[in-house]
Amino acid sequence: MAFFNIALAPGDGIGPEVFEEALKVLHSIERLYSHEFSLKEVLVGGASIDETGVALTDEVLDTASTSNAVLFGAVGGPKWDDPSASVRPEQAILGLRKGLGLFANLRPVRVNPIMFEDSALKREVLEGTDLVVVRELTGGVYFGRPQKRWTNSRGRQAVDTVRYSEKEFERILRVGFELARSRRKKVTSVDKANILETSRLWREIATEISEDYPDVEVEHLLVDACAMHLIRRPADFDVIVTENLFGDILTDEASMLAGSMGMLPSASLGRRRKNGTGLGLYEPIHGTAPDIVGQGLANPLAMILSVALMLRYSLGLEKEAEAIEVAVEKVIADGYRTADIAGGVQSKVISTSQMGTLVDEKIELSQKE
Ligand code: IPM
Ligand code: MG
Repeated sequence: MAFFNIALAPGDGIGPEVFEEALKVLHSIERLYSHEFSLKEVLVGGASIDETGVALTDEVLDTASTSNAVLFGAVGGPKWDDPSASVRPEQAILGLRKGLGLFANLRPVRVNPIMFEDSALKREVLEGTDLVVVRELTGGVYFGRPQKRWTNSRGRQAVDTVRYSEKEFERILRVGFELARSRRKKVTSVDKANILETSRLWREIATEISEDYPDVEVEHLLVDACAMHLIRRPADFDVIVTENLFGDILTDEASMLAGSMGMLPSASLGRRRKNGTGLGLYEPIHGTAPDIVGQGLANPLAMILSVALMLRYSLGLEKEAEAIEVAVEKVIADGYRTADIAGGVQSKVISTSQMGTLVDEKIELSQKE
């Protein structure tokens, strides 16, 4: 039996809806495998703005930093969308990533063969797709300063800044190379070295680091070409490693390989202990989907699969993580789909909570087998 502190940050929009389903699964894992999870719910994003005036309070950051892991839903929504507002829901997730030092974002994309017919892409293209995008998460244009707007005689002006240090590049590239070593030993390093100075530094460091990994094959791709190859030959990729903004864009694209944004979980990790575990934040890659809030249409699988990643990377509970992943596969194999992934004729379309319950039941059943 093991004891863990977990901070729960459901957030806004469909965040709380998919969270509820993830909690069903988390409670079952706790009971079936005799662990003790001490869960503390915190306000983030728009929900926090309404209550406290800011998207992330120091108290919440403190709770998160003293937990074993943070489970995060999604933040944002039309209510707080005024582009000129200085307080924005997204500051919560950016503040947590930065404040907790979670510089490495892992976004695995596996295409379940059973879902080939639900995809917008052809079976021949999808077959064998199993990749991980390693996205730098605490630097680049997301955090570079200056970032501002002003007006002069030529009208409205704006600036954002991309800034990176060699240390930031090195540590994320190492995460990519190490991960590739435990997989199919191929790294695709993605940049825009034909245009950006930061990307030329990135490529230089990627080339230097690759010398420490002679067993890993390296491919350098420009981000625009990578975007194209991702849908032309997705199965050729193993580990894609890239900076913050490129990783953000490429993972939305990659989610469509897996059928929907509602399928992709993510793990945001910082420095690891010797045994590989450490504080992490786990969230689906999708947003708050204001258009479908409260209708039972949201796909909870990305959130549920994020729980699996949390068990694996922060709590060191591999067997429990696999139990969740297998349960999700079984429910998909049985033909159940939320609306976003229901492309095939055979699919049985179900609601958010039905999906959560079915996955939960499969976990219970697997224990009895
Ligand atoms: C993501 C999201 C976030 C990002 C937003 C909500 C700040 O798109 O996690 O991919 O841009 O990183
Ligand atoms: Mg994104």
